[in-house]
Amino acid sequence: MENLDQLKTDLLAQIDNADLAALEDLRVSALGKSGTITGMVKGIGQLPPEDRRDAGQQLNVLKNAVAEAIDAKKDVLEAAALDASLATDRIDVTLPQRPEETGRIHPISQTIDEMVAIFCEMGFTVAEGPHIESDFNNFTALNIPPEHPARQDHDTFYLPPNEEGERKVLRTHTSPVQIRTMVNEKPPIRIVVPGRTFRADHDATHSPMFHQIEGLVIDEATHMGHLKGCLIEFCRVFFDVDDLPVRFRPSYFPFTEPSAEVDIGCSREGGGLTIGAGADWLEILGCGMVNPHVLENCGIDSTKYQGFAFGLGIERAAMLKYGIPDLRTFYESDIRWLKHYGFVPLDVPNVAEGLV
Ligand code: DAH
Repeated sequence: MENLDQLKTDLLAQIDNADLAALEDLRVSALGKSGTITGMVKGIGQLPPEDRRDAGQQLNVLKNAVAEAIDAKKDVLEAAALDASLATDRIDVTLPQRPEETGRIHPISQTIDEMVAIFCEMGFTVAEGPHIESDFNNFTALNIPPEHPARQDHDTFYLPPNEEGERKVLRTHTSPVQIRTMVNEKPPIRIVVPGRTFRADHDATHSPMFHQIEGLVIDEATHMGHLKGCLIEFCRVFFDVDDLPVRFRPSYFPFTEPSAEVDIGCSREGGGLTIGAGADWLEILGCGMVNPHVLENCGIDSTKYQGFAFGLGIERAAMLKYGIPDLRTFYESDIRWLKHYGFVPLDVPNVAEGLV
């Protein structure tokens, strides 16, 4: 008992004289896991049963008194330290301001935003779909049956077969979202689908992951004139050249009939590339009237409805519009590149303004 009183007096005296660091040492040595008081509490079990209750109570009182004294002293010391620093610290108003780091919008996001703005102004809405697709949505329903040669061009990433033996694919284009939309919605349909696509292809102009934007219009009286008007307007607004020459060249896609590729006018004089009137052409997108087989595959009556579709690569469009020479730099996450080619947030030019 006397020992406890003595211990308390000693500890309180030490606490009273301690600075912040010594205070923490004292707390650990008295109340920590192997501290003096903690050790005594653990020793209660060895006492004769009739002494345990008393000892427990007294140790508790001691423990609380020491903990409270430490807390109180800590408050006093901290308040004193704060007063001292307030008395001596001065704000140096001549210091230069800290540089403010603002982020940049990646050119891919910017290009998608611009394209979506243009199409939404024309009455399209945005649709999206998953990256992992069924073979049916990615190929078969798009009129690319199992042995079709177009499958070979797609360098498809296949997933291991699931329990039913089905092999899913990483979608090779955004076109499967056409299928999903036509299966789930009734015409009229007017959608654009920006998103990631995947092909096992990697060199200076190909990346295994890239972005496309797809368009689909289905209605009762849609014809090739609508397709041409829509895409000519898109190219002119996107590249911001009012009289941009746009030409439609016959082509082939299994999911459209007839199909066309769209070229825009450009000039390569002097080694550079200028988009606009010139002697050359640059391919920019693929399009066509939706093949009746595709409509029927989705349960849409092809004698009543028809429409058009188109698809283009986002990276390629961004490279052309913003003069970005190398595809690989898009994915390197180099902050210097992003500072140079990226866009300041909230300062996005309203590209749709040009539309009437
Ligand atoms: N899916 C085509 C590709 O990846 C692009 C495309 C062409 C989409 C014509 C279309 C279209 O919807 O009509 O190369």
